[in-house]
Amino acid sequence: MTLTQDELKKQVAQAALGYLKNVPIIGMGTGSTVTHLINLLADCDFKRDIEGAVSSSIKTTEHLKSIGIPVLELNQTGSLEVYVDGADEVTPHKKMLKGGGGALTREKIIGGASKTFVCIVDSSKCVDVLGKYPLPVEVLPLARSFVARELVKLGGQPVLRENFISDNGCEILDVHNLNILDPVAMEQTINNIPGVLTVGLFAMRGADIVLVGKGSEVITY
Ligand code: A5P
Repeated sequence: MTLTQDELKKQVAQAALGYLKNVPIIGMGTGSTVTHLINLLADCDFKRDIEGAVSSSIKTTEHLKSIGIPVLELNQTGSLEVYVDGADEVTPHKKMLKGGGGALTREKIIGGASKTFVCIVDSSKCVDVLGKYPLPVEVLPLARSFVARELVKLGGQPVLRENFISDNGCEILDVHNLNILDPVAMEQTINNIPGVLTVGLFAMRGADIVLVGKGSEVITY
C-alpha cells in the first residue's frame, strides 16, 4: 500500500517520538510534519515528564500550549538536548534547506542552541543538491530591494512572498533557480548581505540525525 505524503509525515513523526523520551526540555520546530509530532505527543505516556518546550514559532507555541506543554524562552533554558524539525530539502550530508513555513530564523537559533538536531522528513524531501525548492531569505523590509538585487547577482530569481510577515516582523524573498553546490559557502555569502536576517540554508550547522519516512520503513542516517 502506498502512503500519501501526509501519511509519510505522520510515520516519520511517530519515529521521532523516541528522541524525546527522557528529555525534560525539548526544542520544537514548525511545519506540517511537526504538527503530526505534537499531535502524537499529546497522547504519549511520557508527555507528563516533559517540563517544557522551546518553540520556533507562534503556531507551534499555540499548539504546544493546547496539549498542555509549557513553552519556555531560550534565554531561560540555556542549551537544549534535542531539537526536532522538518525540512524542505535535505542532502545525504545532512545539509538542509528550510523556511517554507517562514519560521527559519527561530528554527536556526534553536537548532544552533541544541546538542542534537533531529530532522524529520518524508522521502520527497531527500535531494542530492539543494535549491530546487525556492530558498527562503528573511529580510528587513527596508532592505528588500537591495537584498533582491544582490541575490540576482548570485544567479537567483528572488520573489517576494506575498501577504506574509514573519513572526519577527520581516519579509521573505523566495529565491528560485539556485543550484546550491556548496551550501556552506552560499549560506555564508547570503548571511553577509546587509539586511538579511536569516537565510534558509542550514549547512554550517546541519542536522545530526535525519529520519526519512518511506512507507515500508523509516530510514535513519
Ligand atoms: C518552517 O519554516 C520550515 O522550515 C519547515 O520545517 C519546513 O518547511 C518543513 O515543513 P513541512 O513539515 O510542512 O513539510
